[in-house]
Amino acid sequence: MTTHRIALYPGDGIGGEVTDSAVAALEAAARRGGTFQLAFERFDWGMAHYDRHGRVAPDDFLDTLRAFDAIFLGAVGWPARLPDHITLTPLIRLRQAFDLYACVRPARTFRGVQGPLRKDAPIDLVIVRENSEGEYVDNGGVLGTGTAEEIATQTAVHTRRGVERILRFSFELARTRRRRLAMITKSNAQRYAYVLWDRVLAEMAPRFGDVAVEKLHIDAATLELVRRPESFDVIVGSNLFGDILSDLSGGITGSLGLNPSANLNPERRFPSLFEPVHGSAPDIAGQGIANPCAAVLSAAMMLDWLGEKDGGRLLRTAVERALAEGNLTPDIGGRLTTAKMTRAIVQQIG
Ligand code: NAI
Ligand code: MG
Repeated sequence: MTTHRIALYPGDGIGGEVTDSAVAALEAAARRGGTFQLAFERFDWGMAHYDRHGRVAPDDFLDTLRAFDAIFLGAVGWPARLPDHITLTPLIRLRQAFDLYACVRPARTFRGVQGPLRKDAPIDLVIVRENSEGEYVDNGGVLGTGTAEEIATQTAVHTRRGVERILRFSFELARTRRRRLAMITKSNAQRYAYVLWDRVLAEMAPRFGDVAVEKLHIDAATLELVRRPESFDVIVGSNLFGDILSDLSGGITGSLGLNPSANLNPERRFPSLFEPVHGSAPDIAGQGIANPCAAVLSAAMMLDWLGEKDGGRLLRTAVERALAEGNLTPDIGGRLTTAKMTRAIVQQIG
């Protein structure tokens, strides 16, 4: 029997609460499937680590994580206690150091969950966010800090190699789905970086003639995602735009508590990272009411990636059935606690 070694990085706020749910569901799937085992190791990085050691993760945390088959992260961030750019640094470093360049974020409607939009055409899309460069590279500086003449620069980096590989990944993903690809830029206003995206798309599209391509600027994309969300299949964008659209996708399907993600190194040179799209939700942390569905669905993506497709399917079906039977947490109009919702999902796994 295969044993997959999983590093758990629960993080802060509801991160720990939903990680517990994901572990419970994963253990149920392993028991039910009977063909694989999971060995978890838990790392208590984040604010708890900061309180004891003065930093949110040890200096060698990347070396520690490298040895695992996959990493599962809850969420990081506790803005009331520490600025986000400090608590989120390990996550951004992980994505860049492990070259987790393809951030895959499915967003869909579920039977039993009422979305906020008036029309009820089902939404089933995947956002592919370039995750290794773009607007989130640590590249800039400040002159004259605190003075009236202060100057801050932050320069995004878009490489041809980076754009090519994320577009290729997205075209290939579209081929496994409804064969539609929407690329999001702002090439009407930023005429170097995003025009590179336009050029690479134009070069690559003929090789994927069976995929229908559409280009949208980020402002128009936010409008169209509300107006005709059902028309989107795969959406690809740079780090910043993928980030923004991910939260919007949670908004239109009903809750961010439903949206999973995978941060993939498609070449498998490093362990990939799986996490819900949502953050640490300080507004509800500690109340036991976080929706665990996004975390469980992220765990399903992890099983798929580890080659345990039956296990992944088991988790996804369990979430679908639990929701369809009316098991709902407060964010989607119900009253269940995280623990009760998790139990409903685990019961479906059997
Ligand atoms: P957030 O995603 O944590 O929360 C946004 C809203 O959605 C809140 O009202 C929250 O209660 C709700 N929500 C999120 N997940 C939910 C769930 N599972 N169940 C029910 N409701 C849920 O975003 P926010 O408030 O902007 O950021 C909070 C902290 O998280 C910040 O420190 C931020 O930097 C960090 N963050 C971390 C991320 C990560 O670890 N990958 C991603 C996004 C934000
Ligand atoms: Mg985000």
